[in-house]
Amino acid sequence: MFANTPFYVRAQDPKQRFDINQDDSGQSTETSEPFAALGLATFSQRYKGPTSVVPGGALQAAQAALTKRVACPDGVHTATNAACCALFPILDDIQENLFDGGECGEEVHESLRLTFHDAIGFSPTKGGGGADGSIVTFSDIETVFHANNGIDDIVERQRPFIEKHNISAGDFIQFAGAVGVSNCAGAPRLNFFVGRPTAKAPSPDLLVPEPFDTITDILARMGDAGFSPAEVVALLASHSVAAADHVDPSIPGTPFDSTPSIFDTQFFVEVQLRGTSFPGTGGNQGEVQSPLAGEIRIQSDHLLARDSRTNCAWQSFANNQAAMQSAFKAAMLKLSLLGQDKAKMIDCSEVIPAPASLKAGAHLPAGKTQSDIEQACATSPFPVLTAEPGPATSVAPVPPS
Ligand code: HEM
Repeated sequence: MFANTPFYVRAQDPKQRFDINQDDSGQSTETSEPFAALGLATFSQRYKGPTSVVPGGALQAAQAALTKRVACPDGVHTATNAACCALFPILDDIQENLFDGGECGEEVHESLRLTFHDAIGFSPTKGGGGADGSIVTFSDIETVFHANNGIDDIVERQRPFIEKHNISAGDFIQFAGAVGVSNCAGAPRLNFFVGRPTAKAPSPDLLVPEPFDTITDILARMGDAGFSPAEVVALLASHSVAAADHVDPSIPGTPFDSTPSIFDTQFFVEVQLRGTSFPGTGGNQGEVQSPLAGEIRIQSDHLLARDSRTNCAWQSFANNQAAMQSAFKAAMLKLSLLGQDKAKMIDCSEVIPAPASLKAGAHLPAGKTQSDIEQACATSPFPVLTAEPGPATSVAPVPPS
């Protein structure tokens, strides 16, 4: 198992050696045996926590860390902090009953969007408690904000899980987002900290960016919440696993890229392609032309890919999965802690499953050439990509579940 790593030791209970392990570039660090061969029933039983490879010199420290693990009351899992044990049954429940058995489908996409719409309700001057679950606790107020159009669906899908399990709405939203993203191949393994108190007040309106906002306004709003322009671009990797129901209501489930169930860089490639047509009626507020049949493009993504403040960051992700993953992971951690006191929270990241890794790199959709790329970054050329063979790519809607 460690043939190529003679100076490394595995600091983990050997019972856990079948876990999938990835580093932040999405590369598997160990070949895992098929889960089926293990005959394990639940997601959390298949995935019992992280394993790690540490330099031989760190053996003692690793062993010390090992002895600190506590056995969870379920008799199955262990955790570095007992508070994390309560998350394993929630993990199993949402994988089976919210995410349709561990898919990267509509509920995952909506749950990821919800992490943003709850957390970005935070401003040092205007108020809002950030990632506090106020979008659920005060749903009668927040879900009617214009920018939250359609978010009531996932709020009401998540509410019974929040009520059933002893967890705050703020914790649940970020936990569901991190678990959901783990179902999308190519995603980084997101962090999760537990300990958000129940929200005391709703977020004020007008803190969630709209697709028809100017880039100056979007960057100002995100900057007010603490995000740099590069971090805004990193967060938009989320649109790699996304579709729109309400931008053009005549075509619900229209994806933002050609691979809406894979967390790849195609979104950054395809938004840089020249727009040629609308997938539906056209003329909708916040929508611009897209390059592929069945694909939708929102104006804010289009402009962020071309604006001099963000276009080089955008391009930097187009064929760099590892860079996109680590930037997204860092920005999502920041998002998930907005308005919260990290010092009072417990790091339960070990409960989040490791996503499957991707083999293939970015490509141009079939029927496109490099000349269809609208070069925007002034300091370096867009990466040269090969087009997929076959007839021009058209994108199927994300099915409702
Ligand atoms: C500049 C900021 C952003 C704008 C203007 C924006 C706008 C939008 C719009 C208009 C939709 C389509 C909603 C619908 O019609 O159903 C959407 C979907 C989505 N957004 Fe964003 N977004 C932004 C940032 C983010 C961020 C930071 C995240 C997550 C970290 C995110 C995650 C998603 C996801 C996952 C979806 C797909 C939801 C689904 O498929 O049901 N967005 N976004």
